[in-house]
Amino acid sequence: MSDSTHANPLREGLTESAEADPCTIVIFGASGDLTLRKLLPALYNLSWDGLLHPETNIVGTSRTEWSDEEFQDHIRSSIEEHSRRKFDENVFDQFLDRAGYVGGDFADPELYAQIRKKIEALQTSGKTRSVLFYFATPPKVYELIATKLSEAGMIRSIEDRAWSRVIVEKPFGRDQKTAQALNDALHQVLHEDQIYRIDHYLGKETVQNILVFRLGNGIFEPLWNSRYIDHVQITVAESLGVGSRAGFYEGVGVLRDMLQNHMMQLLSLVCMEPPNHFSPKAVRDEKVKVLEAIRPFTGEEVDRHVIRAQYEAGTVAGSPEPGYRAEENVAPDSETDTYMAVKFNVENWRWSGTPFYLRSGKRLPKRATEISIVFKRPPISIFREEGASEPQSNVLTLRVQPEEGISLSFGSKQPGQRLRIDDVRMDFLYSTSFGQQAPEAYERLLLDAILGDSTLFAREDEVVLAWGLIDAIAKRWEEKGEPPLQYPAGTWGPGAANDLLEQDGRFWVRL
Ligand code: BG6
Repeated sequence: MSDSTHANPLREGLTESAEADPCTIVIFGASGDLTLRKLLPALYNLSWDGLLHPETNIVGTSRTEWSDEEFQDHIRSSIEEHSRRKFDENVFDQFLDRAGYVGGDFADPELYAQIRKKIEALQTSGKTRSVLFYFATPPKVYELIATKLSEAGMIRSIEDRAWSRVIVEKPFGRDQKTAQALNDALHQVLHEDQIYRIDHYLGKETVQNILVFRLGNGIFEPLWNSRYIDHVQITVAESLGVGSRAGFYEGVGVLRDMLQNHMMQLLSLVCMEPPNHFSPKAVRDEKVKVLEAIRPFTGEEVDRHVIRAQYEAGTVAGSPEPGYRAEENVAPDSETDTYMAVKFNVENWRWSGTPFYLRSGKRLPKRATEISIVFKRPPISIFREEGASEPQSNVLTLRVQPEEGISLSFGSKQPGQRLRIDDVRMDFLYSTSFGQQAPEAYERLLLDAILGDSTLFAREDEVVLAWGLIDAIAKRWEEKGEPPLQYPAGTWGPGAANDLLEQDGRFWVRL
């Protein structure tokens, strides 16, 4: 569909019965950055696509004391500045008519009475009884909000025809213990099926395509194991620094900000067994099995398999950038990690013997998220005697962002009388093959929560298991008390990250 047309009432693959119910979306943290940059634009784009029921209302709430009109102005600037679709007065007006705001303290029961009133005031028919609550607040108030909602009688039983669901933003806990405690607290008032733990990486088109690519084609899956795959690399590189988010990032670092969630999700999708169905339970059961197959590191294994670093001043894309410790609101002696590389072994039938190298960092030379599947080389080189160079490994690259696509490198004879082999690439690019803009991750995930499909959300056991792996690393770092290594902004991390692969006779694929 082109950007300017306004058709396609149903997302491809959705059946009549999967049409969105009329509902109210209550956003806690409505004056925050996530709501401004992601949630409101996502809801607007879903409206544009006709994917929301016409009786979908939005209630914003936060401590900021805004009137409905002030919230509506906020929505306008959010759409104007951050929507992937251009501003359209018609879509916008309908959208705005159905938006209201309530300001107050999350601990105050009166706030919930006001929210309930606002929901009722926006209802134009008796149909809008289902409510999706979005917790876009600091995590420390998740439990409080859930409890207050329950005390106010705003959470329906799972048996009710109208539903109550809650989307919980990351970070979900700070370690395994706190994640478990948060699960327990939420389960006091919500059924697990009502809890949608969001990881926006799962909403990215290219991430969803990992399973389609693997399991929707006949030729790749037979090769998808340690017999043919030498190793796998997963890189999530960012060129930006911590920006204005140090308040959140300090003491959290890349380990908890990226590895625990986004990267473990990518790893699970690459490694999991084919599920029997594409259903939330079947898919998540298989992802959980992957996490169960990774043993938490011992202290000595952390020393050998994990690299931790922080950026110092340097130059990114020609622009001089300060070191992490000189960033706004960062302690001058901060030991927060902004880069890490890790080698995991997935100890199961399919993957034993194929290491997975993961790395992520801020202030790297460019923004790039890629999964590289590096295949084993042919057993012998029959062309060597003819003077040809050793064959290189075939690399299958799943490019999550930017320039979303998939490419396969392979050796090919260079034209000419001599036998020379060059590495060439076969490329698929989403933009040229489909010529349409993919929806934003938050669009897909908000719609799925409204449709009651939790396949692309993390289940309770998934987050707890992932935290177990993270805790083992964090514990060793704490015990040793050593500062992180340094790397200049604009480089690919510390030299030790290269050694991690070189000691295994491998190297990071060039991005
Ligand atoms: C967020 C992290 O979850 O993901 C940020 O908190 C990070 O630190 C961001 O920058 C990366 O997301 P994306 O979609 O830009 O790759």
